[in-house]
Amino acid sequence: MTDTTIRNLKYHQDSEVTLKGWLHNKRSSGKIAFLQLRDGTGFVQGVAVKNELPEEVFRLCKDITQETSVIVKGIVRRDERAPSGFEISVTDLKAVSPSEEYPITKKEHGIEFLMDHRHLWMRHKRQHAILTIRARINRAIREFLDGEGFILIETPIITANSCEGTTNLFELDYFEQKAYLSQTGQLYNEAAALAFGKVYSFGPTFRAEKSKTRRHLNEFWMIEPEMAYFDHQANMELQERLIEYIVGSVLENCAMELKTLNRDTGRLEMVKAPFPRITYHQAVEMLKEGGFDFEWGGDFGAPDETFIAEQFDRPVFVEKFPAKIKAFYMEPDPENPEVVLGADLLAPEGYGEIIGGSQRIHDYDLLLKKIEEEGLPVEDYMWYLDLRKYGSVPHSGFGLGLERTVAWLCGIDHIRETIPFARMLNRITP
Ligand code: 4AD
Ligand code: MG
Repeated sequence: MTDTTIRNLKYHQDSEVTLKGWLHNKRSSGKIAFLQLRDGTGFVQGVAVKNELPEEVFRLCKDITQETSVIVKGIVRRDERAPSGFEISVTDLKAVSPSEEYPITKKEHGIEFLMDHRHLWMRHKRQHAILTIRARINRAIREFLDGEGFILIETPIITANSCEGTTNLFELDYFEQKAYLSQTGQLYNEAAALAFGKVYSFGPTFRAEKSKTRRHLNEFWMIEPEMAYFDHQANMELQERLIEYIVGSVLENCAMELKTLNRDTGRLEMVKAPFPRITYHQAVEMLKEGGFDFEWGGDFGAPDETFIAEQFDRPVFVEKFPAKIKAFYMEPDPENPEVVLGADLLAPEGYGEIIGGSQRIHDYDLLLKKIEEEGLPVEDYMWYLDLRKYGSVPHSGFGLGLERTVAWLCGIDHIRETIPFARMLNRITP
């Protein structure tokens, strides 16, 4: 008898195994019980037949309640129709610990109820599939960047510096000094890039955005590579290779989860570098031709981004935004200083901006001027300006929003399901 997991059933076809998990759901008639079993690695159906089992075992199969923890023995049978590809003919069942009146039942529940029970809801099939894909994306990102010779840098979460505007900072009292929860690791990554060449941070970031949209969280995770001697072009080339790698890895390793989510994988198969590049100017023309009332100089809203992205079959870079609507640190385009050498990467199918990136200003005087124009306290940025004083080089980087990437690859319409415990305007528990 072998202990195994649902994910590894394929190695045990036609033999008897032990699974340790939970009874997720059940359906039974007089002579047969269908047990939905889960063990953390996946879901599988166990079939318990009355006249093949000792009486007390079959009775337990019939009476057992949802989310009771169980140890099941059974024979692994091939079943083409099952998402796991297998079914278990139950030979024994033991209850480990009971579960009384489990709140999430087969009936329809509202989203707020489910979010209130997130600590339990994450056990369910769809949520399990989404978070499994999230973990795979995490892993793919690290595989790719580590393989490219990047060094992982831990940037601080408590910081005195803002980087992405001062209107959405979570402020805190740091021993009577003003501090913020980090909006981005970028400024620290720039220091690290000049020490290590190619670096990335992968951490939580915080934005006090009072918006209730399908794309915004107040705490989200960002992957931020930063590279010395990379210009704007090299920056985009790295981004498209990273995205191609992530999508390929999810397609290869998460077939079962994508099936659970009914994801149209045909759209994902098309995600191959190079990605199209258009300028902000061209995007504005596109919007106007599409009947949108849009003025040069404005920032794109979700419907604008969706329309632009719909014109392409894969992610699209929109580059050279007006400097006025972008962050202070972006390098001006030498051909037209009104726009910057940065790009947003828009995901297909209406998922919006998944990456924001740019070449950084590497000239001391220009950066100082921008910091002053932005109204930031220069003394807190002296260390950042130092990087332009001691061997400054052109450098570039970007931030990939993990949750928006998960939403896109899973094909789900709200970002709240892409993170284990979402932090949103009206939600801080569980
Ligand atoms: O475009 P953003 O603000 O860029 C930066 O923070 C840069 N400092 C990154 C860098 O160059 N190192 O954010 C980057 C990405 C966005 O493209 C989006 O995917 C995600 O972070 N993002 C959010 N995701 C969820 N909820 C929010 N409120 C988000 N704000 C940004
Ligand atoms: Mg952005």
